[in-house]
Amino acid sequence: MEKPRYYFPTERDTADLEFSDLGFDYLACPYRFEAVFEHGLWRSRGLQEDNVMHIPEGSQCLHYGQQLFEGMKVHRGPEGKIYAFRPRDNAKRLNSGARHLRGPEIPEALFLRGLEEVVQGNHPYVPPHGSGASLYVRPFYLGIGDNVGVKPASRYVFRIFVSPVGPYYKGGFGPDQGKGFMVSKHDRAAPHGSGHIKAGGNYAASFYPGTEAKKAGFADAIYLDPVNRKYIEEVGAANFLAFKGDALITPQSPSILKSITRLSLLEIAGEIFKWPAEEREIAVDELDEISAAACCGTAAVITWINRIVDGERSWEFPFDERWQQLYNTLLGIQTATQDDPFGWRYEIPTMGS
Ligand code: PLP
Ligand code: COI
Repeated sequence: MEKPRYYFPTERDTADLEFSDLGFDYLACPYRFEAVFEHGLWRSRGLQEDNVMHIPEGSQCLHYGQQLFEGMKVHRGPEGKIYAFRPRDNAKRLNSGARHLRGPEIPEALFLRGLEEVVQGNHPYVPPHGSGASLYVRPFYLGIGDNVGVKPASRYVFRIFVSPVGPYYKGGFGPDQGKGFMVSKHDRAAPHGSGHIKAGGNYAASFYPGTEAKKAGFADAIYLDPVNRKYIEEVGAANFLAFKGDALITPQSPSILKSITRLSLLEIAGEIFKWPAEEREIAVDELDEISAAACCGTAAVITWINRIVDGERSWEFPFDERWQQLYNTLLGIQTATQDDPFGWRYEIPTMGS
């Protein structure tokens, strides 16, 4: 079946913003998409103008953290076309979270429809190709209702807002942009808990250690496995990556978020560059043998880690050209300046596409 077409003035219209100066901040765009789940059914409410939500005071999301979110990026290609990156994987991850929190799954078609509508509605805010900025897409899911007991909600809201953004860690990526990270004494998630889903509570738990790290002059905290405090888990908003000899390695743990960026980089490393790429436990002590470190995520993209401090111990990591190769390939695929052999780009239909 042919995709529906949407008629906007022109796909090249852009808002009057200094896109290349943006940080990672919320900017209220004109529209957000909303759907509600009631009486056992999801119903689209389409695009909304109000960025303030009206929900019952007894809502489970407010008291018991029955809440999930996702993060995606949308880029403009050189021809002006607009692309999301692997949105079906975000829909799958959101739904694995919904199962864990005992809420209804969101049909993939509704998730993609919401993505398309909210990007089309706010298309002047999709940064121009080459600006270095992107449109951050934030889907989120709330259990709501008139409730006080500790039990899952019977009503839900699914909303998607967007905001044009620049780099998550100030300065972004580059051979002069190394960031220091501090190993935290606190835990973010428990081994059989909720660390693998994108629930807001995991992030609330990261505020204390994250603030501590930032106060001490680091970009963020690195978490260790909570059982042995021996293995590296992840960063508050990104997964950990390292090069050991020829191999790209990244932690395996049941309590970290399975990053879609990391999955993509492992595939790029293995399939395009033919480097060994492996998910496995990485002990802090192994940092002695590691030649390069970084973290990755939708917001963080690839962030070079030039220093890790763990109490009295510290490690320095020089910039590795292989980060640049991975970065160029990932961005090249996302922004359509290079082939997409994996089929990861998802074109958002606009007038003329
Ligand atoms: N780990 C955490 C805790 C995150 O918040 C994120 C960001 O989404 C990631 C890892 C990276 O995941 P992704 O690449 O899917 O954005
Ligand atoms: C993302 O990379 O999308 C994240 O969710 C990280 C952070 C902004 C929470």
